[in-house]
Amino acid sequence: MSFFLSLLLTTQAVALPGDEAVPPVDWARQLGIEEEQRDPATGEFPVAPYRQSNANAGATPVGGNRLADQFGGQAGIRDVTDRLVAISLEDPRISATFKGHDMVRLRRTLFEQVCYLLNAGCDYSGRDMQSAHRDMGLQMDDLNALVENLQQAMREKRIPFSSQNRLLAKLAPMKNDVVQP
Ligand code: HEM
Repeated sequence: MSFFLSLLLTTQAVALPGDEAVPPVDWARQLGIEEEQRDPATGEFPVAPYRQSNANAGATPVGGNRLADQFGGQAGIRDVTDRLVAISLEDPRISATFKGHDMVRLRRTLFEQVCYLLNAGCDYSGRDMQSAHRDMGLQMDDLNALVENLQQAMREKRIPFSSQNRLLAKLAPMKNDVVQP
């Protein structure tokens, strides 16, 4: 018993002089670096000013509301675009591209864009496709991966195949603005 007691005592951490907890240095504060703050209302980081216009959506909306209905209206579209972002963040082919970007903003603007294109009652308030993807060095493989993820998201929501293809047809011409030559 006394053997175990002495073993226990010798294994207790012994505080040595100089071991006092040192608070971590807040370098950003020390160097006067301002941190970007998310907008408390939207949860988004600020972006450089740009002119907002539906023309930034990269295509014109479909006519009528049949396609919007096939997607389940705005709620269905939000499910699809949120799922597209979620799948892409888990996709080892393209997940790294999204690191450091504002996913709160991307989820909102992607929803608005698809909602606008499907004529489901939204305006698009994001940047144009060329500005949004400038300097990202995106290649055709990246776009193909994203399109596959969108197809998966639409399949999961049981969007009819012909309706899936009508959305893809709207997005296809944006390739030239998204993919680097
Ligand atoms: C036709 C295909 C595409 C469409 C319709 C599209 C749509 C969008 C939209 C609406 C935005 C937000 C614009 C804004 O913040 O104002 C955006 C940003 C972004 N997209 Fe795409 N995108 C496409 C292709 C891709 C691909 C292939 C990738 C990568 C694999 C990608 C990665 C990103 C990233 C990382 C951002 C954030 C940019 C930033 O924070 O400045 N996009 N995209």
